[in-house]
Amino acid sequence: RTAHAAGGSTLTFSPLPHGYDENSHVADGYAAQTLIRWGDPVVPGAPAFDVTNQTAEAQAQQFGYNNDYVGFMPLPMGSDSSDHGLLCVNHEYTNPDLMFPGSPASEDLTAEQVAIEMAAHGHTVVEIKREGGPWSVVADSPYNRRITTSGTEMMLTGPAAGHDRLKTSADSTGTKVIGTLNNCAGGKTPWGTVLFAEENFHGYFMGDAEQTDEARNYKRYGVPGGWYVWGKYDDRFDINKEQNEPNRFGWMVEFDPYDASSTPKKRTALGRFKHEGATTVLNKDGRVVVYTGDDQRFDYVYKFVSAGTFNPDDRAANMDLLDEGTLSVGRFDADGTLEWMPLVHGEGPLTAENGFNSQADVLIETRRAADLLGATPMDRPEDVEPNPVTGVVYMMLTNNTKRKDDQTDAANPRAVNAHGHVIEMIPPGTAADGDGANADHAATTFTWDIFLLAGDPADAEAGAMYGGDLVEGGWLSCPDNLAFDSKGRIWISTDGGPKSGIADGVWGSDVSGPGRALTRRLYACPAGAELCGPEFTPDDTTYFAAVQHPGDEKGSTFETPVTRWPDFQEGMPPRPSVQVIVKADGGPIGA
Ligand code: FEO
Ligand code: CA
Ligand code: CA
Ligand code: CA
Repeated sequence: RTAHAAGGSTLTFSPLPHGYDENSHVADGYAAQTLIRWGDPVVPGAPAFDVTNQTAEAQAQQFGYNNDYVGFMPLPMGSDSSDHGLLCVNHEYTNPDLMFPGSPASEDLTAEQVAIEMAAHGHTVVEIKREGGPWSVVADSPYNRRITTSGTEMMLTGPAAGHDRLKTSADSTGTKVIGTLNNCAGGKTPWGTVLFAEENFHGYFMGDAEQTDEARNYKRYGVPGGWYVWGKYDDRFDINKEQNEPNRFGWMVEFDPYDASSTPKKRTALGRFKHEGATTVLNKDGRVVVYTGDDQRFDYVYKFVSAGTFNPDDRAANMDLLDEGTLSVGRFDADGTLEWMPLVHGEGPLTAENGFNSQADVLIETRRAADLLGATPMDRPEDVEPNPVTGVVYMMLTNNTKRKDDQTDAANPRAVNAHGHVIEMIPPGTAADGDGANADHAATTFTWDIFLLAGDPADAEAGAMYGGDLVEGGWLSCPDNLAFDSKGRIWISTDGGPKSGIADGVWGSDVSGPGRALTRRLYACPAGAELCGPEFTPDDTTYFAAVQHPGDEKGSTFETPVTRWPDFQEGMPPRPSVQVIVKADGGPIGA
């Protein structure tokens, strides 16, 4: 079933075979270096990590937990430097059983441990550089910054900002929020800002939704999820004490990493749901188009088109482009058509009759509005990203084992979809020769296609589909995040391989020609980890691998973890870390 030849792929590296062990692995001819780990100092003056004596004060100055999105922002701003830049990294969630001695259960955490968790969430900016040698973090750089759940004031902006449903006892304006939650993937804008997602915000709240005025809204989002007990120590996470607080999360956050004092802005025009991430493309008419997925079984994919146009000569003029525009949701028809249906108050069913009194209501309850429009329920839309070369937009659908036989459709063709798939969304104007210069991302009608159906092709029951015969280790499971190199080749990172006995990692593939959908693995995670945030420097010579939740397996504890990656030091638990991967000869990744 497998061929060892390259099968026509332009990727010539020697692929990694499948495997699963305590260490990370990279293909022969490549080198991996750990750049930054949970607890490493970030902001100027930050204390060194002391794992058995961690404090919230220290954590708020150090690299957070469970790194997810990675964005490389060149220095100087606007350059294409591949040797110097800002690394912008999300910290999605915490694993108290691997973070704290004694592996406390979430409900047994002390107030100080909860405060550490809040400080370990959010985002990090660190200046990094290399001068003819390995990459390093610039200690005490004035750019270095931590954004946390407990300590960073943010603004709500756009059509829902200031609405009564966003007001709390701490914020009578409905425009100021402390912090951010569950920051999963993200994206970059053409004006040099970073977008990061608030994904599973529901998990942080406790209480009884039926006793609030938001019962219908909260039910649709699974609020309260009760994953964390922060509400024991902070009233805003108890919906019976602060009923509107959950409406202030579930947004896309935009911030300027080049200004360490900038206030992050929650852009309500992009909708409120479990955003995996958001990626931006400059349309040929100057408008900005943002693609964003709602990562839950049977939820939707969205697109935002700005009202204004990008001004390449005036950065300040672009800074609020994401506050005004049209949000649409996707419907995938069996004939290969993709319709983008606008979520506009007063149009179709989005009226007072259905509880939508304004555009703010439509955005606060984006999911319910999309339900009414008849959007296509997908197999968990994770990263959605336009190919910078071809203009074709790729959507990772990670899995959906709850889909039943009578719920399959052309775009979600497998019941009990354990391995996920990848869909191509094709804007009009995309040339057959792969030139995306004339692609119209603002159009309301696209076409779509399936790029691959993940899983092991040797397992007939899995129903996998690739572009042809794969190399050994070529099949993947549970695509989650993606990046493109400058040649437009796709790199897919996964979250769920261990369920199939293989390590998560990153696989590269051509998107056209004889190597189309022939995946081969470059990097493999240590036990228990998923791989997040694929990112390249502009010249493709560095690939950043964000290893999330290493050692997260049943029975794995702080004292006896299944791996102590990356330190492998007695007494030190595994640490979520970002590694840099370079080719030994310094050339572009993948060759
Ligand atoms: Fe945070 Fe959808 O993964
Ligand atoms: Ca993800
Ligand atoms: Ca990406
Ligand atoms: Ca995932």
